[in-house]
This record gives sequence, structure tokens and C-alpha cells, in this order.
Amino acid sequence: MVICLRHALPALFIAALISSSLIAQGRPTPNPQLAAKGLNTRVESLLKKMTLEEKIGQMVQFSAGFATGPGAAEKNTHFDDLVAKGEVGSFLNVVGAEATNHYQHIAMEKTRLHIPLIFGLDVIHGDHTVFPVPLAVAASFDPPAAEIVAHTGGVEARADGVPWVFSPMVDIARDPRWGRIIESNGEDPYLGSVMARAWVRGYQQGDLSKPNSVAVSVKHFAAYGAAIAGRDYNATDMSEITLRQVYLEPYRAAVEEGAATMMSSFNSINGVPATANPFTLTQILRKEWGFDGFVVSDWGAVKELINHSIGDGPTVARKALMAGLDMDMEGNLYGTVIAQQVRSGKIPESVIDEAVRRILRVKFALGLFEHPYVEPGPAYEPTAEKRALARKVADETLVLLKNDPVEGVGALLPMTGKAKKVALMGPMADNQRDIIGSWSQGDPKNAVTLRKALSERLGDGLLYAEGCGLLSGQDAVTLNKVNFGGSVASAVGGNEVPDDDQTIAAAVETAKQADVAILALGESANWMEGEASSRVHLGFTGSQEKLLEAVVATGKPVILVVMAGRPLELKWAAEHVPAILEAWSPGMEGGHAIADVLFGDVNPSGKLPSSLPRAVGQEPLYYAQMPTGRPATGVDLSHIPTDSPSKFVSRYVDEENSALFPFGWGLSYTRFSYSKPTVSRESVPLKEVLASGHSPVVKVGVDVKNTGSVAGTEVVQMYIRNTDASVEQPVRELKGFARVQLAPGESKHVEFPLGFDELNFYNVEVKRTVEPTTYKIWVGGSSLATEETSLQIVE
Ligand code: NOJ
Repeated sequence: MVICLRHALPALFIAALISSSLIAQGRPTPNPQLAAKGLNTRVESLLKKMTLEEKIGQMVQFSAGFATGPGAAEKNTHFDDLVAKGEVGSFLNVVGAEATNHYQHIAMEKTRLHIPLIFGLDVIHGDHTVFPVPLAVAASFDPPAAEIVAHTGGVEARADGVPWVFSPMVDIARDPRWGRIIESNGEDPYLGSVMARAWVRGYQQGDLSKPNSVAVSVKHFAAYGAAIAGRDYNATDMSEITLRQVYLEPYRAAVEEGAATMMSSFNSINGVPATANPFTLTQILRKEWGFDGFVVSDWGAVKELINHSIGDGPTVARKALMAGLDMDMEGNLYGTVIAQQVRSGKIPESVIDEAVRRILRVKFALGLFEHPYVEPGPAYEPTAEKRALARKVADETLVLLKNDPVEGVGALLPMTGKAKKVALMGPMADNQRDIIGSWSQGDPKNAVTLRKALSERLGDGLLYAEGCGLLSGQDAVTLNKVNFGGSVASAVGGNEVPDDDQTIAAAVETAKQADVAILALGESANWMEGEASSRVHLGFTGSQEKLLEAVVATGKPVILVVMAGRPLELKWAAEHVPAILEAWSPGMEGGHAIADVLFGDVNPSGKLPSSLPRAVGQEPLYYAQMPTGRPATGVDLSHIPTDSPSKFVSRYVDEENSALFPFGWGLSYTRFSYSKPTVSRESVPLKEVLASGHSPVVKVGVDVKNTGSVAGTEVVQMYIRNTDASVEQPVRELKGFARVQLAPGESKHVEFPLGFDELNFYNVEVKRTVEPTTYKIWVGGSSLATEETSLQIVE
């Protein structure tokens, strides 16, 4: 059997394909979803009737429900009046038929022009049905899984009156100190772009006019994930080549896929705030990529431009608008300081018209003028069918980091029938709130914990002791100082330091009664993951490490299950615990999915979308590093540890350069072998590559065999290195992957296309190009792949 894959070109979307091939030739084309027949005529005819105030009203958004940012309470709460006067075009955080219909009736019935509101919401990993967090979904290396998550969440949001989701987040995240890595697709631009497309497809279904499609807001434009030192909201600073080649790629992919809206980011980029950045918002996004949806600011980001020191209120609003920022989220500046500046001639009305055009286009495309309301439905209960989907996706996201044989026992996983008594411990074992992860709209009560799932399988054979909490009293004190107004302390039981010694001792006694101990440790979704949750310590919080060490000291075989929204430091665990499963924040069916893998009903197939560090001091740590003049290894794979012959090489004196577990890593209960990869042509003339557009010029083929005794799925990964470019290129870059299912003994031939799309890079003139060179090519099961071939591009 032959499998040939190129994720960047989903066969389903021919229209997108045609438009993207034009973009590659430098000719942006309109998004077919926003260019439906007659749509522009309707927009223009409505625009002509609008007063300046009505136009500006379309550009104003408020949070009229719960707050997802600071300062909401200070804002205007006379929302009924604002809507009736046409002074608001959108709300966020208003959810459900009753609330959305309430405001929509005012907009449709009391305003002069009856323009519907558009409601937006952070639907990040499902809505009522809570799937694993996006970082986990990326670990599946399975774009259809992302489509399922997006589609399910979108359909549920639409049924709640919300036709616009603030998702997907496509920021490249290479520093797990940044709490928002949980919402990302991890460190890699290729994986990030493939997944970005899948999320957009799942939400928008290639057709915004479908009654259950939702418009996406791709965020946070741009480069928010590169916040210096991983501190949220911090500045970013990088070369234009890195910006384009690494950080902008997933946004570009999302735009090619038809993304209807974008959200600007809080950070500045090379000194210019992203929310008032003409280079990113107009030059790149509109002129180069042909984006014709609208851009909404992030929460309060227009007003925060004052803190960026680029002017007073009127000035920053003008700068944002002129740069290409169409809608002011929860900022109230557009509504108050723009009209006057248009009247005085400081802002041309044509700029307002263009912003309003873009917003109306999306409202028309979504069919909101025809169907502004939503039918009230019964309170949402997750169906068995949706639970099954959440479980299936979660099954694919779990990454088996380690499964070393234990003397006299063999490999601990899978657990099939070996252990009669199992001790389950740790603060994530029976924790419904944190298992679903941050940014969850769903009800934690619907979450299945690992304790529940294991007790379904083991009954009395399961022993349980929590051992310790996620946070100790000291963490609570620290977090409160950071500004949680006492809420953390009350959530974890006050500022008293709990007596972990006693609870740990009780857990140790529980472990001693069992054949095997499972420790479920992790991170608080509420306090430590997501927005405003950067950390400088990446170890387990509270007394968790102490608990782990105490249980390991009993000599019982230990399986560690890590539930966290970011790579944590697992160095001690990796040295002392034989089996480790990275489970991320696995969502409402997380307990079942983890049990599926622990018992071998599901053979793990997830791979790391983000390198796991040995120490936080290595961050930002990622596999696609640039070469140095003094590589530590003496070979080009500077992420593979070997002894260095000299002190004067690029390395740390107190730790290895390499990741503890590298990008793409993940074990299976079976083994896979790879043939040496081959190329369909060993050399290709440069002219042919440059003229090929999106068409591949070469195929890289490899045979993958399941050499073990159980069926399994391998994520086959292809990496390339441009060895002789005019601008230095990373030591490896992922340029293809495929999930391949193999029965025991079965072999499949996998082919990856290579063409301009995969081979290009930005030269010193910051132009995408390909030059004569040799590409090294590796295919294997992680970024450490060793099976190698090469391709020459000749004059
Ligand atoms: C701020 C966050 O950065 C963004 O991701 C989110 O969509 C908005 N708040 C709205 O909640």
C-alpha cells in the first residue's frame, strides 16, 4: 500500500487551492467565502445608508457577559441603550439563546438599519463538549482530529447564538514558561500550519453560510508566542526573516484556508505594537496575503497602546485604525475618539468605510441578516456520541515518553492483567476541574477523572490516596501576591501550609499495599495554565515531587501520568520512574482515554509537538535550531547529545543541550522499522522548482514496518536540511508527516511530496526562494530520525 500526503493541500478545498496557488505567485485573491455572489453589492448598498456614527458603531465590541480580561466592570453597562443607538456592532462573552436573542432583538428591531450583532466567544477546545487542549491535539499529528474538535465546538457555539469563535490560536510557542503554550500547536511552523488549516476547516467548513458554520478569529496576530522570556504580554523582537519563516507561517496558512477574521496581539513586534502595526496588519496581511476579512483587537489592546507609549487615546485609536485594525474589543476608544477625528479631517472616512465593509462582509457571509436569532434549546448535556468523539481524540493525543522494563516485571505498560492491586495517587487523579484544562467552556462536572475510569475497570482492585494537593499553601501565598485578590488562597484552603507529610505518608502506605503505583501529577488549569500564567519554575508545584520521590522510594513499580498544559521539567522522574505518559489536559473524557492507553486497549501514538526540557534554563528550546560555528556535537545534529572534545563549543557547562524528550518523540507498545528513504529524482533543476508553484517536484519514499506483535499507529516524520543556502537554515525542519496504521508484521510505503512549498526559505532580501543546494532528508519516528537520503537542486 502507498500513502502519499501533503497536508498543506487538502483535496476537499479546490477553491482554496486555486486561490493559494495565485498567492504563491504574489497575487492575492479574494476569499471565496467572503466573495459570494451579490455579497459586495449588499455591503455597498448598506454602507451608503449609514451615518458616520452607525459605521463606527460596527467597529465597537464589548464584553456584556463574564470578563476574560481586566477592567470589564468599569465599562458601560447600559448595553441595551448602546445597541438601540447603533453604537455597538458586536459582543463577546454573551452566550445562549436567551442572552444573545435579547440583544439581537434590539439590534434588529430598534436600530434604524437593522444590522445584526455578531457574538464572539473563546471556544478553544470544544465548547460544552470539552476535548483535549490544542497543544494535545497537536500531539496527535492528526489534522482530522483538529477538524473534529473545531467542528464540534463550532456547532455547539452556533446553537448558543455564537457564530464567531476566537480560535484557533496559531502562535508558534517555543518557550513553555509562556502559559499560553497550551492553546498553541507547539514549536514547529510546519505542524502549526497544517493544524491551523485543519482548525479553520473544522469551524468554517469551507462555507460560512452553512447554518452551523462559525467564523474563526485566528490569533494572535502576530508573533505573540515569542514574548521575551516567556512572560505574557511582553514585547517580541526578531529578524524579519524569522518573523516570516517561523512565526507568520501558520497565520498565512490559515488565511489561505479562508479564515474570516484575525485578532491582533498584545505584544509589540520589533518596537511597533501589533495592534497598530501597518507592516503586519496591512502590508503583509492585506496586500501580500489578500486577507479580506476583518481584524479585531485583543481585549483592551487599542487602549493599552497608551501604555506602549505611542500616544494618547485619540492618537492610539487613529494609529490602530490607520494600521488596519477594524474592531476595538472591550476598549471603548473607537466609540469615543474616532468620529471627531474624521470630522476634523485627521482620519479619512474611506478608512472607516473599508473597516465597516470588512465587518459587514462577514456578517452577511454568515447569514446573520437572514437568521439573526437562535432557537432556544434544552440545557446542554453531552451525548454519548460526543463523549465518544472526545475520547477518541484524547486517545490519539497521549504521548508515551518512557516505558523501560522493570527487573522481574518487564515493561509496566500496557497493564493488561498483570497487576491485581493498583494504587492511584496524586492531585490530578480525581480532579474534574483541572483535567479539562484552561479556557474550557464546558462543565467540569461532566469530566471523567482517572480515578473514575480506573475504578470502572478495577473495582476493588483500585486503591486511592490523593497524597497532596496541586498547590501548597506557599504557592497560594505567592499567587495571591501576584494579584488574585485572595481567590487562590480560598480555592486551596487558605494560606495555611497543609500537612503534606501526613498525606504523603498515607499515600506511601497505600502504594505499599499495591502491585503497581500510578501517580497522576500535573498543573493547575485554573491558576497556572493559559493566559496570564507564565511560570519561571517548570517543575511540579506544591509537594508533588516529594510525593513522587516518596512513592518511588517504596520500591513499587511506578507509572507516572503527567496532566499539564505545558512541557514540565521531568528530569528526576525520567531518571527514576520506569513508565511516563504525557497526558496534557485531556478534556472531559481524559480519564477514560488515559485508562485506554494504560490497559493497552489503545496503543499510544501521540508525538511531542514541543520539546521537553531537562531544565528551564534551556528555554526557549526547540529542535529546529540554527547551526553554530562551534557545534557541541561535531556533527550537524546539535540537538543530539554526544561528548564534545572541547570546552569552547556552544553548550552549557552544567547541562546537555538536548531535550529530555525531543520534538516528535513518542513510544508505542509495538516497534517500527524504517527503510532507507529514497528520492524519486536525485537532482532537480532550480528553474523547475521555482516554476512549480504548489506542485511537488520530487517524492520521498520510505517503507515503514511494524516489527512488534501488536497493531500500532506510527507518525512517520520527514525532516530536511538545506545545507548550502545564502542565509543559514535550521539543522532540521519538519516538512511532512503521516499517521500510518500497521498490523503486526505489516509494512507500508509512505511518500512525501517535496516542492517549492517545502524547500523555500527567505533570502537576505526577505523574498521566498530556492537556490542551488543539497538538501539532507531524514525520515523516522521523531526529530532524531537517522535514516537519510538527499536531494540536489542544480543550476
Ligand atoms: C484575551 C485573550 O488574549 C484572547 O485570546 C481572547 O480571545 C480574548 N481575551 C477574549 O476573551
